Amino acid sequence: MVSHIASLVGILLIVGGSLGYELTRFEQLNDAKQQNFIKIKNLNVPAGKTLDLSNLKEGTTVEFIGRTTFGFQEWDGPMVKITGKNLKIVGVKGNLLDAEGQRWWNGKGADRGLRKPRMFEAIVDDSVITGLNFKNPPQACFVCNWCHNVKISWVNIDAKDGRNGLAFNTDGFGVGYAKNVTLSDSYVYNQDDCFVTGAGEDILVERLTCEGGNGISVGSLGGGAKVERVTVRNSKIINNLVGVNVKTGWNVQGALKDITFDNIELVDIQQFGISVHGNEGHPNFPGGDPTPFPIENLTINNVRGNLNGPGGANTWVWVAPGSAKNWKWNSKVTGGKSAMFRPRLECKGIPAGLQIPCAER
Ligand SMILES: *[C@@H]1O[C@H](CO)[C@@H](O)[C@H](O)[C@H]1NC(C)=O
Ligand SMILES: *[C@@H]1O[C@H](CO)[C@@H](O)[C@H](O)[C@H]1NC(C)=O
Repeated sequence: MVSHIASLVGILLIVGGSLGYELTRFEQLNDAKQQNFIKIKNLNVPAGKTLDLSNLKEGTTVEFIGRTTFGFQEWDGPMVKITGKNLKIVGVKGNLLDAEGQRWWNGKGADRGLRKPRMFEAIVDDSVITGLNFKNPPQACFVCNWCHNVKISWVNIDAKDGRNGLAFNTDGFGVGYAKNVTLSDSYVYNQDDCFVTGAGEDILVERLTCEGGNGISVGSLGGGAKVERVTVRNSKIINNLVGVNVKTGWNVQGALKDITFDNIELVDIQQFGISVHGNEGHPNFPGGDPTPFPIENLTINNVRGNLNGPGGANTWVWVAPGSAKNWKWNSKVTGGKSAMFRPRLECKGIPAGLQIPCAER
């Protein structure tokens, strides 16, 4: 009998465990973090507080269910933080992390006029993040810095309510100092980089659709940071300021190696269809001399599409002579005549022997 009860209790514990711990009130957060299956359901996170899911138990599953909301306060965030190993972070169908960023947006970017919290930060290893829906981040939305062996998929970021510059600096995905990270099947409507990496290796982006923002950027955080083996493929960039953006900083050191953009469709790009420049951050940008910065094994393959008018440039390359090594280039971007640039846009540093139609008039 005793053993029957014991096994019954055991079964109940297993069943209880598999049903998960429902986190519906913020006060439950510490209890929830002792569990290995956390269901975050219609949670309201108080103003100025992080939904702090750091140091979760190894192997924890976190589900976001329903609408997660946040109180208003001027602060830097993050609104949600997750750290740990071997985690599964899952957005259940119909989930929404709604930051209601319109309460902060003032058209002045991340840190002017009003402090705005960053939205979501994960520092995870050997983990999966899938199915999350983000709405109206106050500034940068999704950051996975120092992530290793992580698969991110089916994530939506929607800051469409902030178009026309209102929600400026709402970066979509940022991945820095990361290794072996995949982002796939995701969508961003925002007002800054759609995806950006400034440091890291073995990064794959595929089937990403970007609308409204500043393009897909591979760049450098400087301070010697390297970006190696990054592939962006089978993706679509619509109505962005820039399409493909390879940017290294003015007066900044580091290196880019093995960077590939393959099968990218550009639609109605405003300023640069493809830009590879070494003077990001120069006060006279796009003027200002590029700083020497090695960019080796850059492949632009089957990048095609149009500018939204003659003002923008289909392609612009502006790197210090000698920076570019072993580039391959096959693109067809049309519609731009570089008319918006005064003085006239020039190109510099294209490797000898490469035919790149640059700054066409
Ligand atoms: C990269 O990460 C995936 C999990 O996303 C893992 O299966 C794979 O083994 C990792 N590759 C390396 C070389 O560590
Ligand atoms: C460039 O690519 C070639 C193969 O195409 C490879 O052998 C070489 O190591 C790469 N160089 C860098 C700096 O990644």
